[in-house]
Amino acid sequence: MTEQSPVTQAQAQPVKAAPALPDAQTVTQVKHYTDRLFSFRCTRPASMRFRSGEFVMIGLMGDPDPKTGKVKPLLRAYSIASPSWDEELEFYSIKVQDGPLTSKLQHIQPGDELILRPKPVGTLVHDALLPGKRLWFFATGTGFAPFASLLREPQTYEDYDEIVITHTCREAGELTYGAELIESLKDDELLGEVIGEGFWKKIRYYPTTTREESPKMGRITDLMRTGEAFTDLECTPLNPETDRAMICGNLAFNLELKEMLEAYGLEEGANSKPAHYVVEKAFLD
Ligand SMILES: Cc1cc2nc3c(=O)[nH]c(=O)nc-3n(C[C@H](O)[C@H](O)[C@H](O)COP(=O)(O)OP(=O)(O)OC[C@H]3O[C@@H](n4cnc5c(N)ncnc54)[C@H](O)[C@@H]3O)c2cc1C
Ligand SMILES: NC(=O)c1ccc[n+]([C@@H]2O[C@H](COP(=O)([O-])OP(=O)(O)OC[C@H]3O[C@@H](n4cnc5c(N)ncnc54)[C@H](OP(=O)(O)O)[C@@H]3O)[C@@H](O)[C@H]2O)c1
Repeated sequence: MTEQSPVTQAQAQPVKAAPALPDAQTVTQVKHYTDRLFSFRCTRPASMRFRSGEFVMIGLMGDPDPKTGKVKPLLRAYSIASPSWDEELEFYSIKVQDGPLTSKLQHIQPGDELILRPKPVGTLVHDALLPGKRLWFFATGTGFAPFASLLREPQTYEDYDEIVITHTCREAGELTYGAELIESLKDDELLGEVIGEGFWKKIRYYPTTTREESPKMGRITDLMRTGEAFTDLECTPLNPETDRAMICGNLAFNLELKEMLEAYGLEEGANSKPAHYVVEKAFLD
């Protein structure tokens, strides 16, 4: 085997080409959890500001139009899973087998480019809630993503005494991203410094599965209706005086939980009119 000279090594370095995509960002890390779920990180535009919990449009170029040969960006809404202070952006994604975007996106690698429209929006933000003592995050599936951002946001711990995060998935492996993220908070130096050591003890994590055996089985809605969730968490049911909530899951889940929160006396808020809870779809349909 011939030893490579430094010159050859230097020549072998890829020349940094101008970005090929509009609003291009570079993928820095990819991690796969199951055959349906992965997360990735990418560079963040220097001028991009957002509030933890918001979403943006991201994507790739689509296939060429068979008639014209033209290619158009293929964009989808994605919650930013990283907090507002992070110098990179993180996303937590589904892989839909025939999905126009995710059938391609699931193959991205570090160094690849993706399109990111830096115009964050969304309702799952602290500004849309009135002050309270206990904050509930209710998620199903990839609906955990905005809470991955908010769980790393110092304001969450500054504003609330207690944070309850519930995550319902079909299978146990679908809980891994959330479980690892919550575990990692114990070693989060920035949050430890800003909020104080042991801040993570404010978090009560309640993961449940519905179609595969796990320590806690059942839909969170059913577990709340029977009171089992409150017994397990050793806490009182929600009360508009003290509790605030954010919901992010499939449409049926969002609607069912909305109805339950209204029955507890909580009112829906918005950026323009803060109230007791806010809701956002984890995906369309
Ligand atoms: C406000 C908002 C925020 C979103 N944030 C995220 C996010 O953080 N992570 C993410 O993976 N997706 C998120 N989505 C969904 C995302 O926009 C796309 O639908 C998803 O990436 C699939 O794209 P696709 O082109 O492959 O398939 P699409 O044609 O968009 O979807 C095909 C079908 O796949 C199913 N599906 C789509 N997304 C999901 C999902 N997340 N979980 C389970 N089933 C799904 C639906 O049944 C849908 O009809 C969000 C959607 C909205 C509206
Ligand atoms: N997850 C998979 O392994 C899988 C595999 C292949 C295809 N898909 C397809 O992908 C799409 C999304 O699947 P997904 O599993 O990511 O998301 P999902 O269908 O939204 O389910 C996520 C979790 O939410 C629960 N849930 C659904 N409706 C609820 C409600 N009204 N109240 C409380 N909890 C509720 C589900 O419980 P239940 O289980 O009781 O519904 C499940 O535990 C579906 O169209 C599905 O057919 C999923």
